[in-house]
Amino acid sequence: MLPNSSITLKRIGYGAMQLAGKGVWGPPRDVDAAVAVLREAVEIGVNHIDTSDIYGPHITNQIIRQALHPYPEDLVIVTKVGAFRPEDGSWMPAMSRQELTEAVHDNLRNLGLDAIDVVNLRMMGDNNERSEGSLAEPLTTLAELKKQGLIRHLGLSNVTPTQFAEAQTITEIACVQNQYNLAHREDDAFIADLAQQGIAYVPFFPLGGFNPLQSSALNAAANSLGATPIQVALAWLLERSPNILLIPGTSSVEHLRENLKAADLQLPPQTIKELDEIAATAVG
Ligand SMILES: NC(=O)c1ccc[n+]([C@@H]2O[C@H](COP(=O)([O-])OP(=O)(O)OC[C@H]3O[C@@H](n4cnc5c(N)ncnc54)[C@H](OP(=O)(O)O)[C@@H]3O)[C@@H](O)[C@H]2O)c1
Repeated sequence: MLPNSSITLKRIGYGAMQLAGKGVWGPPRDVDAAVAVLREAVEIGVNHIDTSDIYGPHITNQIIRQALHPYPEDLVIVTKVGAFRPEDGSWMPAMSRQELTEAVHDNLRNLGLDAIDVVNLRMMGDNNERSEGSLAEPLTTLAELKKQGLIRHLGLSNVTPTQFAEAQTITEIACVQNQYNLAHREDDAFIADLAQQGIAYVPFFPLGGFNPLQSSALNAAANSLGATPIQVALAWLLERSPNILLIPGTSSVEHLRENLKAADLQLPPQTIKELDEIAATAVG
Protein backbone atom coordinates (compact mmCIF):
# COMPACT_ATOMS: atom_id res chain seq x y z
CA MET A 1 0.00 0.00 0.00
CA LEU A 2 1.41 3.41 -0.85
CA PRO A 3 1.18 5.88 2.08
CA ASN A 4 -2.04 7.93 2.27
CA SER A 5 -3.56 6.26 -0.74
CA SER A 6 -5.86 3.45 -1.64
CA ILE A 7 -3.21 2.03 -3.99
CA THR A 8 -2.19 -1.52 -3.17
CA LEU A 9 0.68 -2.81 -5.24
CA LYS A 10 1.42 -6.49 -5.58
CA ARG A 11 4.87 -7.57 -4.43
CA ILE A 12 6.06 -8.36 -7.96
CA GLY A 13 5.57 -5.79 -10.70
CA TYR A 14 7.34 -5.25 -13.99
CA GLY A 15 10.17 -2.92 -15.09
CA ALA A 16 9.78 -1.78 -18.69
CA MET A 17 13.34 -0.64 -19.43
CA GLN A 18 14.17 -3.82 -21.36
CA LEU A 19 11.47 -3.04 -23.92
CA ALA A 20 13.50 -0.37 -25.74
CA GLY A 21 16.26 -1.17 -28.24
CA LYS A 22 19.89 -2.06 -27.44
CA GLY A 23 21.39 0.33 -24.90
CA VAL A 24 17.84 1.43 -23.94
CA TRP A 25 17.91 3.41 -27.18
CA GLY A 26 15.50 3.35 -30.12
CA PRO A 27 12.79 0.78 -30.80
CA PRO A 28 13.09 -2.89 -29.90
CA ARG A 29 13.81 -5.42 -32.64
CA ASP A 30 10.27 -6.76 -32.32
CA VAL A 31 7.59 -4.32 -31.16
CA ASP A 32 4.91 -7.04 -31.22
CA ALA A 33 6.98 -9.09 -28.78
CA ALA A 34 7.27 -6.08 -26.46
CA VAL A 35 3.50 -5.56 -26.63
CA ALA A 36 3.00 -9.25 -25.85
CA VAL A 37 5.19 -9.02 -22.71
CA LEU A 38 3.16 -6.09 -21.37
CA ARG A 39 -0.20 -7.73 -22.10
CA GLU A 40 0.93 -10.99 -20.52
CA ALA A 41 2.17 -9.10 -17.45
CA VAL A 42 -1.24 -7.57 -16.84
CA GLU A 43 -2.97 -10.84 -17.75
CA ILE A 44 -1.06 -12.75 -15.07
CA GLY A 45 -1.71 -10.15 -12.40
CA VAL A 46 0.96 -7.45 -12.54
CA ASN A 47 -0.51 -4.13 -11.34
CA HIS A 48 2.70 -2.09 -11.12
CA ILE A 49 4.72 -1.06 -14.17
CA ASP A 50 7.89 0.98 -13.82
CA THR A 51 8.96 3.09 -16.79
CA SER A 52 10.51 6.37 -17.91
CA ASP A 53 10.03 8.55 -20.93
CA ILE A 54 13.80 8.49 -21.46
CA TYR A 55 13.70 4.76 -22.23
CA GLY A 56 13.91 4.84 -26.01
CA PRO A 57 13.55 7.89 -25.46
CA HIS A 58 9.73 8.00 -25.56
CA ILE A 59 9.46 4.57 -27.19
CA THR A 60 8.91 2.44 -24.10
CA ASN A 61 6.05 4.67 -22.96
CA GLN A 62 4.55 4.63 -26.44
CA ILE A 63 4.66 0.83 -26.45
CA ILE A 64 3.02 0.71 -23.01
CA ARG A 65 0.23 2.90 -24.35
CA GLN A 66 -0.13 0.80 -27.50
CA ALA A 67 -0.28 -2.42 -25.48
CA LEU A 68 -2.44 -1.44 -22.53
CA HIS A 69 -4.42 1.78 -23.09
CA PRO A 70 -7.15 2.20 -21.89
CA TYR A 71 -5.43 0.98 -18.74
CA PRO A 72 -6.97 -1.44 -16.26
CA GLU A 73 -8.33 0.47 -13.27
CA ASP A 74 -5.90 -1.09 -10.78
CA LEU A 75 -2.78 -0.64 -12.91
CA VAL A 76 -0.25 1.75 -11.36
CA ILE A 77 2.30 3.25 -13.73
CA VAL A 78 5.40 4.68 -12.09
CA THR A 79 7.76 6.89 -14.06
CA LYS A 80 10.90 8.84 -13.33
CA VAL A 81 12.18 12.26 -14.34
CA GLY A 82 15.48 14.10 -13.82
CA ALA A 83 17.54 12.90 -16.77
CA PHE A 84 17.69 13.24 -20.53
CA ARG A 85 19.42 11.28 -23.27
CA PRO A 86 21.61 13.20 -25.72
CA GLU A 87 22.19 11.71 -29.18
CA ASP A 88 25.22 9.76 -27.93
CA GLY A 89 22.84 7.69 -25.76
CA SER A 90 24.35 8.80 -22.42
CA TRP A 91 22.26 9.70 -19.35
CA MET A 92 22.56 13.36 -18.31
CA PRO A 93 20.89 15.39 -15.53
CA ALA A 94 17.81 17.42 -16.50
CA MET A 95 16.74 19.04 -13.26
CA SER A 96 15.68 22.58 -14.18
CA ARG A 97 12.08 23.66 -13.65
CA GLN A 98 11.55 23.71 -17.40
CA GLU A 99 13.14 20.31 -18.01
CA LEU A 100 11.16 18.63 -15.22
CA THR A 101 7.90 20.21 -16.32
CA GLU A 102 8.50 19.12 -19.91
CA ALA A 103 9.42 15.61 -18.75
CA VAL A 104 6.16 15.26 -16.83
CA HIS A 105 4.20 16.45 -19.87
CA ASP A 106 6.18 14.07 -22.15
CA ASN A 107 5.21 11.18 -19.87
CA LEU A 108 1.55 12.23 -19.80
CA ARG A 109 1.40 12.54 -23.58
CA ASN A 110 3.27 9.36 -24.43
CA LEU A 111 1.43 7.26 -21.85
CA GLY A 112 -1.94 8.84 -22.73
CA LEU A 113 -2.73 9.91 -19.17
CA ASP A 114 -4.25 13.01 -17.51
CA ALA A 115 -2.31 12.36 -14.30
CA ILE A 116 0.58 10.06 -13.46
CA ASP A 117 0.18 7.71 -10.46
CA VAL A 118 3.77 8.04 -9.23
CA VAL A 119 6.67 10.17 -10.43
CA ASN A 120 10.11 9.46 -9.01
CA LEU A 121 12.65 12.27 -8.94
CA ARG A 122 15.75 10.46 -10.23
CA MET A 123 18.87 12.08 -8.77
CA MET A 124 21.88 11.85 -11.07
CA GLY A 125 24.61 12.29 -8.44
CA ASP A 126 28.23 12.40 -9.57
CA ASN A 127 28.44 10.61 -12.90
CA ASN A 128 25.20 8.81 -12.14
CA GLU A 129 26.56 7.50 -8.81
CA ARG A 130 24.48 8.22 -5.74
CA SER A 131 25.95 11.22 -3.94
CA GLU A 132 24.89 13.84 -1.41
CA GLY A 133 23.42 17.18 -2.48
CA SER A 134 20.19 19.07 -1.96
CA LEU A 135 17.16 17.96 -3.95
CA ALA A 136 15.02 20.88 -2.71
CA GLU A 137 14.80 22.77 -5.98
CA PRO A 138 13.75 19.96 -8.33
CA LEU A 139 11.50 18.33 -5.74
CA THR A 140 9.71 21.65 -5.11
CA THR A 141 8.99 21.87 -8.85
CA LEU A 142 7.51 18.36 -8.83
CA ALA A 143 5.49 19.12 -5.67
CA GLU A 144 3.96 22.06 -7.56
CA LEU A 145 3.07 19.83 -10.51
CA LYS A 146 1.48 17.46 -8.00
CA LYS A 147 -0.60 20.33 -6.58
CA GLN A 148 -1.73 21.07 -10.15
CA GLY A 149 -3.06 17.52 -10.33
CA LEU A 150 -0.60 16.16 -12.89
CA ILE A 151 1.02 13.76 -10.39
CA ARG A 152 -0.71 11.68 -7.69
CA HIS A 153 2.32 10.57 -5.64
CA LEU A 154 5.98 11.47 -5.54
CA GLY A 155 8.91 9.15 -5.01
CA LEU A 156 12.69 9.39 -5.16
CA SER A 157 15.34 7.42 -6.99
CA ASN A 158 19.09 7.08 -6.53
CA VAL A 159 19.03 8.92 -3.20
CA THR A 160 20.80 8.77 0.14
CA PRO A 161 19.00 8.66 3.52
CA THR A 162 20.00 12.32 4.03
CA GLN A 163 18.35 13.33 0.76
CA PHE A 164 15.27 11.31 1.68
CA ALA A 165 15.05 13.14 5.03
CA GLU A 166 15.34 16.50 3.26
CA ALA A 167 12.62 15.46 0.80
CA GLN A 168 10.23 14.65 3.64
CA THR A 169 10.46 18.28 4.82
CA ILE A 170 9.25 19.40 1.37
CA THR A 171 6.50 16.95 0.41
CA GLU A 172 5.16 13.49 1.11
CA ILE A 173 7.29 10.69 -0.35
CA ALA A 174 5.59 7.41 -1.27
CA CYS A 175 8.52 5.28 -2.40
CA VAL A 176 12.25 5.06 -2.91
CA GLN A 177 13.86 3.34 -5.91
CA ASN A 178 17.57 2.59 -5.48
CA GLN A 179 20.00 -0.04 -6.70
CA TYR A 180 19.82 -3.09 -4.43
CA ASN A 181 20.18 -6.82 -4.89
CA LEU A 182 21.92 -9.90 -3.45
CA ALA A 183 25.32 -8.40 -4.22
CA HIS A 184 24.60 -4.69 -3.52
CA ARG A 185 23.39 -4.17 0.04
CA GLU A 186 24.38 -0.59 0.75
CA ASP A 187 20.76 0.22 1.62
CA ASP A 188 20.13 -2.42 4.31
CA ALA A 189 19.66 0.12 7.13
CA PHE A 190 17.80 2.56 4.87
CA ILE A 191 15.31 -0.15 3.89
CA ALA A 192 14.63 -0.91 7.55
CA ASP A 193 14.02 2.77 8.27
CA LEU A 194 11.64 3.10 5.31
CA ALA A 195 9.80 -0.06 6.39
CA GLN A 196 9.18 1.48 9.81
CA GLN A 197 7.64 4.50 8.10
CA GLY A 198 5.50 2.37 5.77
CA ILE A 199 7.30 3.61 2.66
CA ALA A 200 7.85 1.30 -0.29
CA TYR A 201 11.39 0.42 -1.35
CA VAL A 202 11.73 -0.63 -4.99
CA PRO A 203 15.14 -2.05 -5.91
CA PHE A 204 16.34 -1.31 -9.40
CA PHE A 205 18.67 -3.85 -11.02
CA PRO A 206 17.13 -6.58 -8.79
CA LEU A 207 18.83 -9.17 -11.03
CA GLY A 208 22.01 -7.16 -11.46
CA GLY A 209 20.81 -5.14 -14.47
CA PHE A 210 23.58 -4.77 -17.05
CA ASN A 211 25.82 -7.03 -14.91
CA PRO A 212 23.70 -10.14 -14.27
CA LEU A 213 24.07 -11.68 -10.79
CA GLN A 214 26.36 -14.69 -10.87
CA SER A 215 27.07 -16.72 -7.77
CA SER A 216 27.73 -20.37 -7.01
CA ALA A 217 25.77 -19.99 -3.73
CA LEU A 218 22.79 -18.71 -5.72
CA ASN A 219 23.06 -21.62 -8.16
CA ALA A 220 23.33 -24.12 -5.31
CA ALA A 221 20.27 -22.66 -3.58
CA ALA A 222 18.31 -22.83 -6.82
CA ASN A 223 19.30 -26.48 -7.38
CA SER A 224 18.29 -27.47 -3.87
CA LEU A 225 14.89 -25.79 -4.20
CA GLY A 226 14.08 -26.90 -7.74
CA ALA A 227 13.88 -23.25 -8.79
CA THR A 228 15.94 -21.03 -11.08
CA PRO A 229 18.70 -18.71 -9.77
CA ILE A 230 16.62 -15.73 -10.94
CA GLN A 231 13.63 -16.91 -8.91
CA VAL A 232 15.79 -17.38 -5.83
CA ALA A 233 17.32 -13.89 -6.25
CA LEU A 234 13.81 -12.39 -6.42
CA ALA A 235 12.46 -14.51 -3.55
CA TRP A 236 15.39 -13.38 -1.39
CA LEU A 237 14.43 -9.75 -2.03
CA LEU A 238 10.81 -10.47 -1.09
CA GLU A 239 12.04 -12.08 2.14
CA ARG A 240 14.38 -9.19 2.98
CA SER A 241 11.69 -6.73 4.03
CA PRO A 242 7.91 -6.42 3.69
CA ASN A 243 8.16 -2.95 2.11
CA ILE A 244 10.19 -4.23 -0.85
CA LEU A 245 8.32 -4.22 -4.16
CA LEU A 246 9.96 -5.80 -7.19
CA ILE A 247 10.15 -4.57 -10.78
CA PRO A 248 12.33 -7.14 -12.57
CA GLY A 249 12.85 -6.23 -16.20
CA THR A 250 12.55 -8.60 -19.12
CA SER A 251 11.84 -8.58 -22.84
CA SER A 252 10.64 -12.19 -22.75
CA VAL A 253 7.22 -13.61 -21.93
CA GLU A 254 8.85 -16.83 -20.65
CA HIS A 255 11.15 -14.92 -18.31
CA LEU A 256 8.23 -12.78 -17.14
CA ARG A 257 6.25 -15.89 -16.15
CA GLU A 258 9.30 -17.38 -14.44
CA ASN A 259 9.87 -14.17 -12.48
CA LEU A 260 6.27 -13.90 -11.26
CA LYS A 261 6.48 -17.43 -9.86
CA ALA A 262 9.18 -16.26 -7.43
CA ALA A 263 6.32 -15.04 -5.23
CA ASP A 264 5.46 -18.68 -4.44
CA LEU A 265 8.98 -19.67 -3.42
CA GLN A 266 9.67 -20.15 0.30
CA LEU A 267 13.34 -19.87 1.24
CA PRO A 268 14.44 -21.99 4.22
CA PRO A 269 16.36 -20.05 6.93
CA GLN A 270 19.63 -21.85 6.11
CA THR A 271 19.33 -20.85 2.44
CA ILE A 272 18.71 -17.23 3.41
CA LYS A 273 21.81 -17.33 5.59
CA GLU A 274 23.91 -18.64 2.69
CA LEU A 275 22.48 -16.07 0.30
CA ASP A 276 23.14 -13.30 2.83
CA GLU A 277 26.83 -14.11 2.58
CA ILE A 278 26.99 -13.37 -1.16
CA ALA A 279 27.29 -9.61 -0.68
CA ALA A 280 30.36 -9.99 1.54
CA THR A 281 32.28 -11.68 -1.27
CA ALA A 282 30.74 -9.83 -4.24
CA VAL A 283 33.00 -7.81 -6.51
CA GLY A 284 31.72 -4.62 -8.13
N1 LIG B 1 15.67 4.30 -11.06
C1 LIG B 1 16.65 3.98 -11.87
O1 LIG B 1 17.63 4.67 -12.00
C2 LIG B 1 16.59 2.69 -12.63
C3 LIG B 1 17.76 2.18 -13.22
C4 LIG B 1 17.67 0.98 -13.90
C5 LIG B 1 16.48 0.31 -13.99
N2 LIG B 1 15.35 0.84 -13.41
C6 LIG B 1 14.07 0.11 -13.44
O2 LIG B 1 14.28 -1.14 -12.84
C7 LIG B 1 13.80 -2.18 -13.70
C8 LIG B 1 14.61 -3.43 -13.49
O3 LIG B 1 15.94 -3.21 -13.85
P1 LIG B 1 16.61 -3.82 -15.16
O4 LIG B 1 15.57 -4.31 -16.10
O5 LIG B 1 17.57 -2.83 -15.68
O6 LIG B 1 17.50 -4.98 -14.58
P2 LIG B 1 17.15 -6.38 -13.87
O7 LIG B 1 15.69 -6.52 -13.62
O8 LIG B 1 18.09 -6.50 -12.74
O9 LIG B 1 17.63 -7.41 -14.98
C9 LIG B 1 17.13 -7.41 -16.26
C10 LIG B 1 17.97 -8.41 -17.06
O10 LIG B 1 17.72 -9.73 -16.55
C11 LIG B 1 17.28 -10.55 -17.61
N3 LIG B 1 16.23 -11.43 -17.07
C12 LIG B 1 15.07 -11.07 -16.51
N4 LIG B 1 14.35 -12.16 -16.12
C13 LIG B 1 15.10 -13.22 -16.48
C14 LIG B 1 14.91 -14.62 -16.38
N5 LIG B 1 13.82 -15.12 -15.82
N6 LIG B 1 15.88 -15.44 -16.87
C15 LIG B 1 17.01 -14.96 -17.43
N7 LIG B 1 17.24 -13.63 -17.55
C16 LIG B 1 16.30 -12.77 -17.10
C17 LIG B 1 16.76 -9.65 -18.68
O11 LIG B 1 16.95 -10.24 -19.95
P3 LIG B 1 15.70 -10.72 -20.85
O12 LIG B 1 15.11 -9.47 -21.45
O13 LIG B 1 16.34 -11.63 -21.84
O14 LIG B 1 14.75 -11.43 -19.94
C18 LIG B 1 17.65 -8.41 -18.52
O15 LIG B 1 18.84 -8.56 -19.24
C19 LIG B 1 13.94 -1.57 -15.10
O16 LIG B 1 13.16 -2.25 -16.02
C20 LIG B 1 13.55 -0.14 -14.84
O17 LIG B 1 12.13 -0.03 -14.88
C21 LIG B 1 15.41 2.00 -12.72
